[in-house]
Amino acid sequence: MRKKRRKNKAVFALMVIALLFMGAFFLWLDLPEQVRSYFDLSAIEEEYDTEVFPEEPFEDAAKEAQEVNDPFAETEKKETPEKDLDEPKEMDEQENLEDQPLEPSENEMAGSYNDFKVIADGDYYLALVTKETTLKSNYKPTGLEALPSYMNPSYPMWLRWEALEHLEKLWAAAKEDGILFSIRSAYRSYETQEQIFKDFVSQYGEEEANRFSARPGQSEHQLGTTVDFGGTEVDFKTQFGQTPLGRWLAQNAHHYGFAKSYPQGKEHITGYIYEPWHFRYIGVSQARQWKQSGLTLNQYLEQQPQEFE
Ligand code: DAL
Ligand code: ZN
Repeated sequence: MRKKRRKNKAVFALMVIALLFMGAFFLWLDLPEQVRSYFDLSAIEEEYDTEVFPEEPFEDAAKEAQEVNDPFAETEKKETPEKDLDEPKEMDEQENLEDQPLEPSENEMAGSYNDFKVIADGDYYLALVTKETTLKSNYKPTGLEALPSYMNPSYPMWLRWEALEHLEKLWAAAKEDGILFSIRSAYRSYETQEQIFKDFVSQYGEEEANRFSARPGQSEHQLGTTVDFGGTEVDFKTQFGQTPLGRWLAQNAHHYGFAKSYPQGKEHITGYIYEPWHFRYIGVSQARQWKQSGLTLNQYLEQQPQEFE
């Protein structure tokens, strides 16, 4: 009788041990996933294409925007030639600077001049370029100069000389701090922007494309004063803002006359998602005042004198 009870106890203990083993086994199966989701930040960042610890709190719109903020990855995946919102390879063919059309072509701006305020003078450093205004299709900035090769432009690029002079100063100061950029985009003609925008519309649809790519006539790149900085593994991605290069720019660019046009969480004001690489030259004292104001660039420029046709 005692033997039988001992035997029952042993069977019961074995069953408990077997159950414990099974539980541990199932837990083990699930464990890597749990560990990933709790501790592997890069996996989370990859999944959401965003920073786990952003510098400023995300707003809903900006968060959504992360999902479309990787046009480069898309174009890479599709194995199309490197052509994207901010790196128009066709520039070298297109940008024969003497060869810009004098009049808008019939279809390109049809009706548009009625819809937008037409900027009287794109050479004015404080000209307001937004989704409500437009540069004329034949506007080409004066005094464009080629970027020097030490700026690592991957194809010929131009900026207006005053902007370039200040970019050179910015470059030297950054170098002193151990920061080395590549310039990924500078002046873009109306026609180049038109092509870029069209490509994005075909990939993302017009509304979505216009959250990160300007319509022709509405890009600050047409001013010849605007630069896209790169030089990292995350060029043209939100994460650029968290790299030493992005941080350096955010802290210092205004001392050289450059303003960050599209800050984080301000899409409802600027019309565009966060672009920590896109800076526009407006002059040193203006850029310092802009920084001091805490306004977005478009809000600041709205307070400056503007002339429309
Ligand atoms: N990516 C900015 C909005 C442009 O296309 O000019
Ligand atoms: Zn840009």
